[in-house]
Amino acid sequence: MSTDEPCRLGVNIDHVATLRNARGGVMPDPVRAALLAAAAGADGITAHLREDRRHIVDADMYRLKEEVNLPLNFEMAATEEMLKIALDVQPHAVCLVPENRTERTTEGGLDVVSHKQQLASFVDRLSSAGIRVSLFIDPEFAQVEAARDINAAVVELHTGTYHEVVLATRPELIKQEHAKISDSAEAGASLGLEIHAGHGLTFDNVQPIAGIQQIRELNIGHFLVGEAVFMGLDRSVREMKRLIEDARTGMLV
Ligand code: PXP
Repeated sequence: MSTDEPCRLGVNIDHVATLRNARGGVMPDPVRAALLAAAAGADGITAHLREDRRHIVDADMYRLKEEVNLPLNFEMAATEEMLKIALDVQPHAVCLVPENRTERTTEGGLDVVSHKQQLASFVDRLSSAGIRVSLFIDPEFAQVEAARDINAAVVELHTGTYHEVVLATRPELIKQEHAKISDSAEAGASLGLEIHAGHGLTFDNVQPIAGIQQIRELNIGHFLVGEAVFMGLDRSVREMKRLIEDARTGMLV
């Protein structure tokens, strides 16, 4: 495998909508954030239409597709309601994620092994409509293999546990989690899957993940939007892009 493939940055703008919804109304506008992220070098926009519409709402998805000239990655639970909307919006890609109403954020990957049949039907219907399907999974070989078995084009490896062990400064666990992500990326790529990763990535922890050569895209949201409060979204996106590019060329900070 070539080692000089770039790693794209997908900017998740969900939490701009979280802030908007805290007051109702229309500000701040997640579409404006997506346009700014695009101007700062984002390679794609990711948005999660949750069943409870706690941040992104249906109209945002249509506007993101219409008004932003970047690939749109539509995150959703595998439900008939969401499928109908995704087929209507026609995003570039759909990332299927597990969803639990009481969670604060996506807490883990999909259990593809146990729900193969149900998920296969979503992969089939979305793929037939020309939408690339990604499955958000924990970095485990069995999940990677199950994703391949049901013809997903992409797996997005969950980096949430990696984020937590970095925060807890546990070197042996960081090494272990990084190895799980790296081994799953290698296994998935050798099975013909495109490999993405995301969740909990920050300026401080992104480079060891971006340095995994099989990873072609990182989806990052909460940290970038939070950091935008201090440095502006333009700078936070540019800095993340720089860190990813430097990790790719071996210029680690
Ligand atoms: N990828 C997936 C599948 C997610 O569900 C999320 C969170 O919405 C992200 C990436 C981005 O995670 P974070 O907001 O922690 O950067």
